[in-house]
Amino acid sequence: MSIFEHVKAKARECVKRIVLPEGDEPRTVQAAAKLAQEKLVIPILLGGPERIQSVAKEVGADISGIECIDPKASPKASAYAEALYELRKAKGVTLEAATQLVQDPMYYGVMMVKLGDADGLVSGAVHSTGDMLRPALQLIKTKPGNKVVSSSFLMDCPNKNLGHNGLLVYSDCVVVPCPTAEELAYIAISAAETARVLCGIEEPKVAMLSFSTKGSAKHELVSKVQEATRLAHELAPELALDGEMQLDAALVPEVGASKAPGSPVAGHANVLVFPDLQAGNIGYKMTQRIGGATAFAVLQGLAKPCNDLSRGCSVDDIVATVLCTAVQAQARD
Ligand SMILES: CC(C)(COP(=O)(O)OP(=O)(O)OC[C@H]1O[C@@H](n2cnc3c(N)ncnc32)[C@H](O)[C@@H]1OP(=O)(O)O)[C@@H](O)C(=O)NCCC(=O)NCCS
Repeated sequence: MSIFEHVKAKARECVKRIVLPEGDEPRTVQAAAKLAQEKLVIPILLGGPERIQSVAKEVGADISGIECIDPKASPKASAYAEALYELRKAKGVTLEAATQLVQDPMYYGVMMVKLGDADGLVSGAVHSTGDMLRPALQLIKTKPGNKVVSSSFLMDCPNKNLGHNGLLVYSDCVVVPCPTAEELAYIAISAAETARVLCGIEEPKVAMLSFSTKGSAKHELVSKVQEATRLAHELAPELALDGEMQLDAALVPEVGASKAPGSPVAGHANVLVFPDLQAGNIGYKMTQRIGGATAFAVLQGLAKPCNDLSRGCSVDDIVATVLCTAVQAQARD
């Protein structure tokens, strides 16, 4: 079963409300219509109702029955502004500023999720990653027991001998440029959760990647990965996680057996944790462009799910990201 089929089947089990702040963006409107028609989620579109209706007409999308909310005219705006002010006043946000902020659909959408009026949020067909992430980081914050928001790429590789029937989870490739050892440990634990929740990998095997395997090289960068491995073991002793190890030791059974004998992960890893964002971002693009894998990104570690789109996304990409968000929301129930 592909990741898409997996999340589609899961989403139907308990239908979630997902808010789409870019509610008048044509691909978003088409995706919302598709999701509502198939009863996979309850989409909520933010924006001026007339503009949303006219976009729906232009793209031939039936949005009858889909809730559209105009943040500028919403009766809930003042309650959201009050709540935002309470959450951010220590950071210097005034009530006036909060009142302005909630007129912005991104902030309004994040407050809907924060206060439970929606179960998750998807944005980024227009906004940059940073503009999408900042309100979520500031207001929704990390989930209890976690200290860092990061991302995973779900990589579906043509070579089905790799990972879990060709599925590999790569982390972090989008958010944290230069993680500390502690942040790397939390990233690893979040990636294992993503593998379980979104890929149906019941036993994630997490490899902490480096240019060294089990002390074969000595360098401060290697020491950081060793420390992250130690901390991750402390935080999640039940998790099959090992490191530091090179990519071939993580994926190839013979190399794993020779370089890391007795490791519960080496040779059979299905979750790869990269030491920093440069390695992770380059790694996923190499797998995609040279290895022919399909790549799909999600955020992890937030108290409630919010996901980012690429600005070049298709309608199907938005549908898939909304479904992943709904399944992440189910896992929070
Ligand atoms: C994620 C990112 C946007 C954060 O932006 P930023 O301007 O650095 O944000 P700030 O440092 O002002 O932090 C804003 C808030 O988010 C929190 N925060 C930032 N990064 C966080 C993270 N990874 N996890 C949890 N909280 C985080 C900060 O603690 C801060 O909280 P506070 O305001 O309550 O004190 C930034 O790290 C970034 O640009 N990452 C790379 C994204 C990128 O370009 N990716 C390219 C690949 S597509």
